[in-house]
Amino acid sequence: MNTLGLAIDTTFDDTSVAILRGRREVLANLTLSQFADHAEFGGVVPERASRKHLQVIHPLMERALAEAGIGFSSLDWVAVSNQPGLLGSILVGMTVAKSLAYLLRLPLIGINHIEAHPYANFLVHGELPFPLMHLVAAGGHTLLIHQEHHFQWKIVGRSVDDAAGECVDKVAKMFGHPFPGGPVVDKLALAHEPAPHRFPRPMLNGPGLDFSFSGLKTAMLYFRRDNDLGGSGGFQEGPVIAAFFEAVTDVLITKTLRAAEKYGVAAVTVSGGLAASIKLRHGFEAACENAGMTLYYPPPALCTDNAAMVACLAAYRHEAGRHDTLELDGRANLVG
Ligand code: KG4
Ligand code: ZN
Repeated sequence: MNTLGLAIDTTFDDTSVAILRGRREVLANLTLSQFADHAEFGGVVPERASRKHLQVIHPLMERALAEAGIGFSSLDWVAVSNQPGLLGSILVGMTVAKSLAYLLRLPLIGINHIEAHPYANFLVHGELPFPLMHLVAAGGHTLLIHQEHHFQWKIVGRSVDDAAGECVDKVAKMFGHPFPGGPVVDKLALAHEPAPHRFPRPMLNGPGLDFSFSGLKTAMLYFRRDNDLGGSGGFQEGPVIAAFFEAVTDVLITKTLRAAEKYGVAAVTVSGGLAASIKLRHGFEAACENAGMTLYYPPPALCTDNAAMVACLAAYRHEAGRHDTLELDGRANLVG
């Protein structure tokens, strides 16, 4: 069924619009990042994010349609991420999507942004063998999701405090790097051997599948306070960051494989912004090969927030007739 659909994602600080033919043919996938708009505040300012989405969403939609070479009248469905994230931002995307669905008399599909992240893998790798264990390592969430089939998924592990991405961003900030810190941390971790200092790996040895990253963040804060960096006899930044990131990746990889084993799953996927890390990818490749587990990874551009992954899940939803009404609501928190 080669339908044409338009998907919008404005859940956090990226405005993204994608146009998809069928389940996987991406005709357009445009994302405008707001990094520069929030840089001076050291983090995303919610009201500023909503205003920015409002300014750019219509021109971005026009550009996506032009790139896809279609007009509104060719569309068969409209999808929008309606949870979780910054509510004011989500409502911008929802208002545009609802207006389109209403005026064009098209089915509306509300998408859970977290459920959509692993669909970056379906988008590029085709059908994946269920059951699957997904690690979604995004800025605000670190989740293990057991999926038995499309639309049948359950969160089996989550961070009880900071998400891994949040921890990485905050530690990068302690070392003077701008938001988001993931890319620079990844670069340093790739370029340096980890310092001999072994940073904590919270909850790694407990039996559960939940994560905790705030203890590691605090350990880094004290380390930064109590040690000279770069001075003679002091620590070099690169190896320290490499040792820190080794602790993060160790926890993510070990828990994901443990979850896969516990649920009798033979294939894992990784997605979310932190999955753009090459270091994490290398670690997963080695560990999965060792464990005889199949690994699916999207290209880096589909790890970070994008509307193409939202469109892919929406195409499955459309085919299954799982539409929403115009009463669809937005939600800041993740429920699942
Ligand atoms: O999924 P995402 O784009 O946004 C949310 O939905 O939250 O994830 C953002 C996170 C941030 O913590 C950022 O530092 C991290 O992904 N990130 C990376 C890379 N690109 C983004 N981490 C490591 N390496 C990267 N190349
Ligand atoms: Zn995300």
